[in-house]
Amino acid sequence: MTTGIIGAGAMGAGIAQVAATAGSEVLLYDTNPNALERAMSGLEKVLQRMEEKGKLRPGEAVEVLQRIRPLQSLYAFHEAELVVEAVVENMEVKRAIFGELEEITRPDCILATNTSSLSVTALAGACAHPGRVIGLHFFNPAPLMQLVEVAPALQTEPEVTARARALMQQWGKVTVTVKDTPGFIVNRVARPFYGEALRILDEGIADIATIDHAMTALAGFRMGPFALMDLIGNDVNYAVTETVFQAFFYDPKYKPSFTQKRLVEAGYLGRKTGRGFYDYRPGATPPAPVQDEALLRRIADRITLLLINEAADALFWNIASREDIDLAMTLGVNYPKGLLQWADDIGRENCVAGMDALYDRYREDRYRCSAGLRG
Ligand SMILES: NC(=O)c1ccc[n+]([C@@H]2O[C@H](COP(=O)([O-])OP(=O)(O)OC[C@H]3O[C@@H](n4cnc5c(N)ncnc54)[C@H](O)[C@@H]3O)[C@@H](O)[C@H]2O)c1
Repeated sequence: MTTGIIGAGAMGAGIAQVAATAGSEVLLYDTNPNALERAMSGLEKVLQRMEEKGKLRPGEAVEVLQRIRPLQSLYAFHEAELVVEAVVENMEVKRAIFGELEEITRPDCILATNTSSLSVTALAGACAHPGRVIGLHFFNPAPLMQLVEVAPALQTEPEVTARARALMQQWGKVTVTVKDTPGFIVNRVARPFYGEALRILDEGIADIATIDHAMTALAGFRMGPFALMDLIGNDVNYAVTETVFQAFFYDPKYKPSFTQKRLVEAGYLGRKTGRGFYDYRPGATPPAPVQDEALLRRIADRITLLLINEAADALFWNIASREDIDLAMTLGVNYPKGLLQWADDIGRENCVAGMDALYDRYREDRYRCSAGLRG
C-alpha cells in the first residue's frame, strides 16, 4: 500500500516511521525543505539505532528508510490509499490542504487528519466528498505509543471508518473509536490531571513538588502533573486546555489557570526553555516534597477523583465505550489503571460522596458529580 503524509514535523515523521515499518510505501510531504531534511536524518538515526539494538533485523533500517519518499509536491499523492495530515493545528491551513487533496487523490483514498483539538466534522464539511474524511489521532512519539483514536466525522462513511481502523491495526496500533467531540477521549479525560493540580497549587494547599510526589508515589502515575506539563511544554498544554474550555462552551470544569498562563507569558515553557514549574538550569536544586502522609493522600485522592468523574462523564455522554475509555487512558497516557475500573475499585458510592463533598465545600459547577457516576 501507499500512504501519503502531510507535514514532516514531530508527528508526521513519527507516523511515517510507523507506516514504513509496517511495510507501506510512504510519501512524506512538507512545504518546508528544512523540515523534510530534519525528518529524514532523524528517521535514519532512529532506525539505525533500532537495528543496532536488534529491534529491526540486519538491513531492515535501510529498507524502511527507502520506503519513505520526501516530497515537496503533492503530485505523487494520486498513488495513495490513505493520507494522514499532520500539519500545524490551524483549520484554515488544514482546509486548504484537504481541498488540494480532493483534486489529486483517488476517490476511494481515505483522507485522515491527526488534529488534536479541531472538529473533524468541520474539516469534512469543507470537502466536496466528506464521507472519506476521518480523524486518526496518534500520540507522541507515534512509533512508541500504541494508541490511535479513530474519530469519524458526522459525514464519514461507516465503510471508511472500518477500513481506517483495520489499517491502523495492520500497522500494529490499538484503536479506540470516539465521537467527534473536543479533545476526543484522552485530551478531554486527562484535563483534571493538570487542572486540579493547578487548582490545588493556586489555593495554596501544597507546592508543586508535593503534588507531583502525591501523584507518583501514592496514585501510581509515571510522572507528576507539573513535571509532565514541563515536559509537554506549558505553551502546548495551556493551548490544549484553552481550546477544550472554549470548545465546551466555557464549561468551568475545564477553566485554564492564570498560573500556567503567566508561565507561558514569561517564556517559562518547561524543559525546552530550561525553566517551567521547575528550574532545569545547571546547578538548580529540585524542591523536596513535604512528607505529610495525610496531605499527600488528600491530594492524590482529589485529583484521581476528578479524573474518574471526567471519565464517567465521557461515558455518560456516549463519547466512547467503557472499554475504549479505559484503554485510551492506559495506552494513550500510560495511566496506571483505567479510570472506570478505578471507580469500581474505590466504590462508586465513595466517588459520589467525594465529589459531593467537594461541591459542598466550593459551590462551583466545576465540582458537579457526573450523572454517570451516580448511576
Ligand atoms: N505534538 C503532539 O504531541 C501531537 C500529538 C497528537 C496530535 N498532534 C497534532 O498533529 C499535528 C502536527 O503536530 P506536530 O507536533 O507534528 O507539529 P510540528 O510543528 O512539529 O510539525 C508541523 C509540520 O507541518 C509543516 N507544515 C505547515 N504548513 C504546511 C502546509 N501547508 N503543507 C505542508 N506542510 C506544512 C511544517 O513545516 C512542520 O514541519 C497538529 O494538528 C497537532 O495538533 C500533535
